[in-house]
Amino acid sequence: MAGTRTSIHGEWSSRFAFILAATGSAVGLGNIWKFPYIAGQNGGGAFVLVYLICVALIGIPIMMAETMLGRRGRQSPINTMQSLAEEAKANPNWHFLGWLGVVAGFLILSYYSVIAGWAGAYVVKSVSGDFSGASAEVTSSLFGEFVASPLQLLFWHTLFMVSTMVVVARGVQGGLEKSVRFLMPALFVLLLIMVGYAMSTDAYGQGIAFLFAPDFSRLSTSGILTAMGQAFFTLSLGMGAIMVYGSYLPSHVSIARTSVIIAGADTLVALLAGIAIFPIVFANGLEPGSGPGLIFQTLPIAFGKMPGGAFFGMLFFILLVFAALSSSISLIEPAVAWLVENKGMSRRRACFWSGFVTWLLGLGTVFSFNLWADFTLFGNTFFDVLDYLTANIMLPLGGLLLAVFAGWIMKQRASKDELSDEGVLVYKVWRFLIRYVSPVAVAIIFLDVIM
Ligand code: PFF
Repeated sequence: MAGTRTSIHGEWSSRFAFILAATGSAVGLGNIWKFPYIAGQNGGGAFVLVYLICVALIGIPIMMAETMLGRRGRQSPINTMQSLAEEAKANPNWHFLGWLGVVAGFLILSYYSVIAGWAGAYVVKSVSGDFSGASAEVTSSLFGEFVASPLQLLFWHTLFMVSTMVVVARGVQGGLEKSVRFLMPALFVLLLIMVGYAMSTDAYGQGIAFLFAPDFSRLSTSGILTAMGQAFFTLSLGMGAIMVYGSYLPSHVSIARTSVIIAGADTLVALLAGIAIFPIVFANGLEPGSGPGLIFQTLPIAFGKMPGGAFFGMLFFILLVFAALSSSISLIEPAVAWLVENKGMSRRRACFWSGFVTWLLGLGTVFSFNLWADFTLFGNTFFDVLDYLTANIMLPLGGLLLAVFAGWIMKQRASKDELSDEGVLVYKVWRFLIRYVSPVAVAIIFLDVIM
């Protein structure tokens, strides 16, 4: 019999609703904005291969573990970890793992919101015809001028943060469950259109080779860490986002199947984004390693050239904003759920305060592209440091500890009970991966970087 608790925050209406919400959390800026630019910075093919291996061997087992822990605990990640530690008669300090996740969520959302704001600004730029006939020089200088303006970034960051908090205040199952149903497929179709455009450029083959032909001489140790970090980031793992969504999951839904579906859809979107972007990069003599501005410099060239480009551009960036929104709400949900459970706050009040703190932190990222661009730590801006700290350290560390908890600390009876609908073989494979493969792989990659 699976866990008998129920969540005070409600439950997903169905298995499909959970898949949509978790896919909504997974698919976001990480796939479309981040994956292409870090693949570009780390030399392409070999990086992509390591990323794919990490998704399969580390990501999927940990996604199953997080969902399972959430469903068994049925509370915010902090309280879930506390009660599961009690159930396992383990050290109560395990609940600090929940805290690690909450802090990571704040830090990530603070910059995530700024980048989502860029996508918002690009909706307006598309509509106003800024990209029409634009060359690579034009789109690059448009982007440069845009991020140099603290006021513009601030405006869009604020707008995105307010939207996130309004959605979260209404509860995750409200408007979101419905909107994701249409927006995800629409985003997918638009990506296919972009891939179609990429195929029409004469650098399609070059783009595909860059992305899929592994050349290990171009992959550094820190590139391997970045690939692993990306597996966590893109699947929303290691910080309790999937755990909190799992806590709203009805019993007797197959966690293995949903995890494979979610990870598969997420990976497909990232690869499509890469396939759409790199041919445009090479066809226009752009630099694949140019950094966080990559999609904002490349896609507008395509929109500027294709028929109906202003419309498709607008639609694409609107959908990107929504994809970001369905991720951002999961970044803050663990904190909000905890404030409601432990501080007796109303959902609205909890949203206001957590949103305000995140917004404030976000100013650091806003300024790191302009006023504070010269304030660097070993050549890294505030944004670079936040990104590295969260994606490459906090999420994998959180994931490693979650794997240890699910595989070694939690009683086997409990995990077997929760995963009883999966079949014996699936359970055995999962248990092997979560005990011996996922945590060991994360630890080796960490050690490799430190030594
Ligand atoms: N998975 C999201 C993306 O790829 O854009 C980002 C994210 C959401 C990371 C939720 C972590 C998280 F908990």
